[in-house]
Amino acid sequence: MLKDFNSIPKTDRVIIALDCEADKALSIAYQLAGEASWVKIGMTLYYAYGTDLVKMLKARGYKVFLDLKFHDIPHQVRGAARSAAESGADMITMHTDGGVPMMVAALEGAAEGAANIGSDVPVTLGITVLTSMDDSTLTEIGVCRPMQEQVLCLAGLAKKAGISGVVASPQEASALRKELGDDAYIVCPGVRPLGSAIGDQSRIATPADAFANGASHIVIGRPITDADDPIAAFRAIAAELS
Ligand code: C5P
Repeated sequence: MLKDFNSIPKTDRVIIALDCEADKALSIAYQLAGEASWVKIGMTLYYAYGTDLVKMLKARGYKVFLDLKFHDIPHQVRGAARSAAESGADMITMHTDGGVPMMVAALEGAAEGAANIGSDVPVTLGITVLTSMDDSTLTEIGVCRPMQEQVLCLAGLAKKAGISGVVASPQEASALRKELGDDAYIVCPGVRPLGSAIGDQSRIATPADAFANGASHIVIGRPITDADDPIAAFRAIAAELS
């Protein structure tokens, strides 16, 4: 099914990564309910609060990106994806270097879980290379190809498995858009509004540039959660994008 991402306002394609303590995460999410569309829960909050947190955020009208980055044998990953879909997650992740059979198993599990609760199948995304990595950290783990080749190779595996798209750096988004086509989800972390701290990200772009490069969605965490005023920080990004 072709997805016309451009018909969705860019602000509704900004995903706030709630990588902070639960009270603060809920406070930000509750204050931005109705203004922001997506939130992302990662391992830190999920391992502490589990599906209750997904359900609380869903109850406030959010789409929830549950970023648990599955990487295990296919049987285990099928079960993980089924459970994630049953929790109501709208978007889930897995490492593409787990291989095609593992990604196919995730897709099957996600479909089973969605059927069990009568909802849409979550968007299934493959992680290519973490945006905190660069060529030297890639070499350290034994990958001798240049970054872009490695990203495109892993994205090709995601396409072969039939999952919805990939997570990748904004700097690889335009090459990925060409490789994967118009209807693929390309979700970009490593996004920094001008003037915000880079932190541990090494392949970054501004929100507008990430979309211009071909991102369907962007993920922004610390520039919002670590801001003196997280609500104002989100609103400034939204204003810049509209
Ligand atoms: O705080 P910051 O904006 O850097 O947050 C980026 C978010 O995107 C984090 O939650 C991180 O786990 C996630 N992410 C990433 N690189 C990937 C996949 C996910 O930074 N390749």
